[in-house]
Amino acid sequence: MKQFTSVADAGDISLLLQEAFAIKKNVLADAQLGKQKTLGLLFLNPSLRTRMSTQKAAYNLGMNVMVINLDKESWQIEFQDGAVMNNSTSEHIREAAAVVAQYCDIVGVRCFPGLIDREKDYSEQILNSFLTYCNKPLISLESGTRHPLQSFADIITIQENRKSTTPPKVVLTWAPHVKALPQAVPNSFAEWAVASGAEVVITHPKGYELCEQFTAGARIEYNQNEALKNADFVYVKNWSAFHDYGATPKVNGDWLLTPEKLKDSNQAKIMHCLPVRRNVELVDELIDSDYSLIQQQAGNRVIAAQTVLKKMLQNL
Ligand code: CP
Repeated sequence: MKQFTSVADAGDISLLLQEAFAIKKNVLADAQLGKQKTLGLLFLNPSLRTRMSTQKAAYNLGMNVMVINLDKESWQIEFQDGAVMNNSTSEHIREAAAVVAQYCDIVGVRCFPGLIDREKDYSEQILNSFLTYCNKPLISLESGTRHPLQSFADIITIQENRKSTTPPKVVLTWAPHVKALPQAVPNSFAEWAVASGAEVVITHPKGYELCEQFTAGARIEYNQNEALKNADFVYVKNWSAFHDYGATPKVNGDWLLTPEKLKDSNQAKIMHCLPVRRNVELVDELIDSDYSLIQQQAGNRVIAAQTVLKKMLQNL
């Protein structure tokens, strides 16, 4: 594996899942594989889970890890080709990425969207610049449009909890929030859930339609109660508008998920990628219930990252 930026890089998902479950059985089985190899984790935005789970995965493989908060601890990077750098940016991505490539064997990058310029965010300028100028295997730690390590961990979690061999009904439901959030997690989850063979239903208020490129194969249902019927898994997430880019249009009705709304589900398990704003996005009662898979998802972030790192190390 040379890059892990979307489900398209995952290959056969069932094989990747098999690999993940083998790793989970014995996380230290490959503790020598990464000896003398260095993982560089570059963050342009905050993180708890992605940072710690990817570091833990690398340590399980015997790797060295260097982490830098590029937005706070380094020079401000210019991504525009041909820029006259007489303003706030001090270093061009061409030099920065080439330098990082000399120090690291595998590189991870987190770069959130600005939610102002849709074309710019969806062009993945930052991630693609690293792909172009950092000649090392590259892992997306969440980009403008996708969060593949999160989605992979989510699919591992679904696979561990499905009750039958028939495809599970997976509902992705929009949830309220106090600010505009990116579409990366729902985009990515939709792609992975469809690719895994699940029956995927996405429910959200009018105005919050996701980019159709990511929801192909899923059914859109504007009536949340209807969507939740017979659900096996309910993934709760807020996102801002894609079409009126970054906006948070006024919502009719109450979209906060409650135990009452799940009464016609198939004893649905509750999922969320975290961080979650308690009693804004999801009520305490559900987060703390026996139906919650939220901590299991976070735990599986290590397994997802370790599976990807192992495949990259085997290919160095
Ligand atoms: N879910 C997730 O990516 O968490 P962090 O933003 O804390 O890494």
